[in-house]
Amino acid sequence: DWSAANIAEEQIRLIREQVGDGKVICALSGGVDSSVAALLVHRAVGDQLTCVYVDHGLMRKNETEQVEKTFGEQFEVPLVVVDARERFLERLAGTVEPEAKRKAIGAEFIRIFEEEAAKLAGAVSDDDAPEGTEVHTSGDVSAEGARFLVQGTLYSDVIESGGGTGAATIKSHHNVGGLPEDLTFELVEPLRALFKDEVRAVGTEIGLPERMVWRQPFPGPGLAIRIVGGEVTQEKLDILRDCDAILQEEIRAAGLYRELWQSFCVLPDVRSVGVQGDERTYGYVVAVRAVTSDDAMTADWARLPYDLLDRVATRMVGEVRQVNRVVLDITSKPPGTIEWE
Ligand code: XMP
Repeated sequence: DWSAANIAEEQIRLIREQVGDGKVICALSGGVDSSVAALLVHRAVGDQLTCVYVDHGLMRKNETEQVEKTFGEQFEVPLVVVDARERFLERLAGTVEPEAKRKAIGAEFIRIFEEEAAKLAGAVSDDDAPEGTEVHTSGDVSAEGARFLVQGTLYSDVIESGGGTGAATIKSHHNVGGLPEDLTFELVEPLRALFKDEVRAVGTEIGLPERMVWRQPFPGPGLAIRIVGGEVTQEKLDILRDCDAILQEEIRAAGLYRELWQSFCVLPDVRSVGVQGDERTYGYVVAVRAVTSDDAMTADWARLPYDLLDRVATRMVGEVRQVNRVVLDITSKPPGTIEWE
């Protein structure tokens, strides 16, 4: 009979059966899928699991801290946090075109995760630390000889890809000095039979904080694809992160967070003239995007209350020095996409 508790128990049993006393590595993103998958595995085999979280500097406010607090401190999961913020910024310098940004971020991400996974599995020595990254660990992160890799694959992903292979191979094609020819992992996929709402129910059941269980979808390339028309810089990331935090705070306070599929800000490379006090300003324009949707295939722009929009705009212009204008995106999908790029 279906209940979140039964599903959790059954998956924990299956993970134990598959993994035995082997070591397991998991790439944690902070999203609900990888978080629930990691927690189930931790329930099943405890400290045989080590999680790796790569901070690419493109996350929203406090998200990295939340992952560290929830997994490192609350659940005491052995955790490696790779601070790769500078490395991503350098890699993105001068890149404006959306697909080029996605490619750069995806490639860099895989490379850093592979380097860490290889180090943890003992396939390369600790001295081969990826350049330009800094690593913080909590708990016992020895994963020597790790053979298993956790993935938060859902039933919908399985259908989309027409079945799965069940094995992941880290190959040495990225020219990372010292990586062995092929480092092969067997996949552990405890969410393979579940829909998103079931994943959330299981997450709630096993104690994942409400904030993480109900987190709105967030693209892998993060804030980088919400800085549009110009290159991604530290200053723009900070402006966008601050505005986004204000929007999230007000939307949560209005009780609308769960009703929206996504809500976020976009920062075009556009300055506009404004006036504040006696002074003429020349500042950034921020766009507010909020949509309702069932599956992201189609979406409707959300009719946010005027007083909420007013608070959001007033706060952004008042609290984020470089911003002097806020606009609202009223395009549905189709013809627009949810993200701007
Ligand atoms: P669009 O903008 O195409 O987005 O309507 C549909 C959904 O996909 C998310 N999205 C991404 N997710 N990597 C991701 O992991 C990406 O590069 C990416 N681009 C878009 C988007 O946030 C929305 O939920």
